[in-house]
Amino acid sequence: MMGLRSVLRRGFDRVERGLDRLFGPDWNPLANLGPLGWFLFWIVAGTGIYLFIFFDTGVVDAYASVQWLTEDHWFHAGLARSLHRYASDLMVLAMLVHLLRELVFDRYRGRRWFSWITGVPVLWFVYLSGITGYWLVWDELAQYVALTTTELLDALPVFAEPIARNFLTPESLSSRFFTLMVFLHIAIPLLLLLAMWIHIQRISQARTKPARGLAVLTLVALVAASLLMPATSQAPADLATVPARVGIDWFLLSLYPVIELLPAGVIWTGVLVFSVLLIGLPWLPRRKEAPAAVVALDHCNGCARCVADCPYSAINLVPRSDGAPFPHEVEVNADRCVACGICMGACPSSTPFRRSGDLVTGIDLPAYSLAELRTQVIAAAGGLSGPGRVLTLACGHGAGGLPEAGRIVLPCVAMAPPALLDFIISRGLADGICIAGCAERECWNRLGGEWMRERVARRRDPFLRERVPRERLLVVWAGPSETGRLRRETAAFAEQLAAQPSYDKARPLSQDELAKGEATAVQRELAE
Ligand code: HEM
Ligand code: SF4
Ligand code: SF4
Repeated sequence: MMGLRSVLRRGFDRVERGLDRLFGPDWNPLANLGPLGWFLFWIVAGTGIYLFIFFDTGVVDAYASVQWLTEDHWFHAGLARSLHRYASDLMVLAMLVHLLRELVFDRYRGRRWFSWITGVPVLWFVYLSGITGYWLVWDELAQYVALTTTELLDALPVFAEPIARNFLTPESLSSRFFTLMVFLHIAIPLLLLLAMWIHIQRISQARTKPARGLAVLTLVALVAASLLMPATSQAPADLATVPARVGIDWFLLSLYPVIELLPAGVIWTGVLVFSVLLIGLPWLPRRKEAPAAVVALDHCNGCARCVADCPYSAINLVPRSDGAPFPHEVEVNADRCVACGICMGACPSSTPFRRSGDLVTGIDLPAYSLAELRTQVIAAAGGLSGPGRVLTLACGHGAGGLPEAGRIVLPCVAMAPPALLDFIISRGLADGICIAGCAERECWNRLGGEWMRERVARRRDPFLRERVPRERLLVVWAGPSETGRLRRETAAFAEQLAAQPSYDKARPLSQDELAKGEATAVQRELAE
């Protein structure tokens, strides 16, 4: 299973690299499937409301009104119909690839189970919305969908009277049954919207809007497809006959030919087993979880930077409990914390410069503390030699995921507080630092890459101090299939560093030297 996942992960990464070249990392469709799903939902909802203005709910009127809007008013209502259909199809595709991608990149297990589990009803609501939609057109495809669905439902011991026999015959089909279908085609998408909203409740700053360029591109593609291949109806439904052949929508109705072939009991058992398996996946196999982050109140002033930076909404700001002169403190919700360490990187107390006492910070990882990280940094730096010594701080989910000499692997690069970069350079532990994050298009820990970029660029607190020479930092965003590029870029960086004069080391200065004004800027700051 792990071997297969790793092959698929590299496969995805390679394809996404190709798309990066075409679209750029921000517009990469594969890195935007969730936001695209939301965008497509709004297109489907908007066009659906528009179509409803022209739609009649009678047995005969339904087909006639759809024909009228498709043929006589093709330039607005017909276009809306095509957009409604193609956006729904694309939503199914985006959802299925999104599901597979989250599975392959292993972003659904352990304490990240919530979005996965809530994705399961989203999946079924998307299909149900599409199925009830096709029903409304009341053409031969609708007849096929209606009969196949009701026969499947009739196999359940839920309905007092069989629906297929009692409602779907030429004599009994009534406008009331149609009104019920319209109601379902509105109610199910509303439930879908609710499920989609719940789906993103346990992550912070969920991306529900794709980059503007990608949104425009998607819309243009949908309009082009709608103009080139307008959605049309098949022959009108006739319950007195059985249509010989119907063309089906392979995105939304792909299961129907299978439903026709197999007994209803087998289909229901299949749906149940598939859903239970899907729901159980986050625990199959169970992952050993690192313990959640812990707060040290003595080192916390309630500044809330960790709250703002946690990608999993795992930290809450609460009233102070220890009498310290600050209004707030923070507490970690251990059920949500994935131990990414991003909060540790955000805390202003995370400064490895401290000389006296134990190195304790406001919020820390019990299994990988700041003190442990500093120890590892010093040990790894001790192993570096020659001019152009580069220490790499790598994300475990990117190209630098495997530990090697001079490389420290972190759960997320944003776990490294900016003060640690300052410490490495100003103490002369290395001539340069390579920050090797995962792919730029999407951080494995959702927001870590963005926070790291902003901290280094001094746009987000805690800022990387100005005194850290940026030419001694190499930032590489590289996915798991780009180990070669990371190696090449690090080697070139080391060569470039070797050609530079060595950076002023922060030698402790005597008061005399300080008074004489011989100190460099770095030394003066350190002495303060
Ligand atoms: C059209 C349907 C869907 C939409 C619109 C959607 C939307 C989203 C969005 C917006 C995110 C957050 C992305 C981010 O900001 O990092 C997300 C994450 C996720 N979704 Fe979906 N989703 C859909 C279906 C599904 C399905 C069917 C599953 C699986 C059964 C699923 C599993 C996940 C998982 C595991 C995450 C990652 C959560 C994390 O990072 O911890 N989604 N989805
Ligand atoms: S380690 Fe910190 S940032 Fe990461 S999930 Fe836990 S509380 Fe949030
Ligand atoms: S970032 Fe540090 S100091 Fe600020 S609230 Fe969080 S734990 Fe406290």
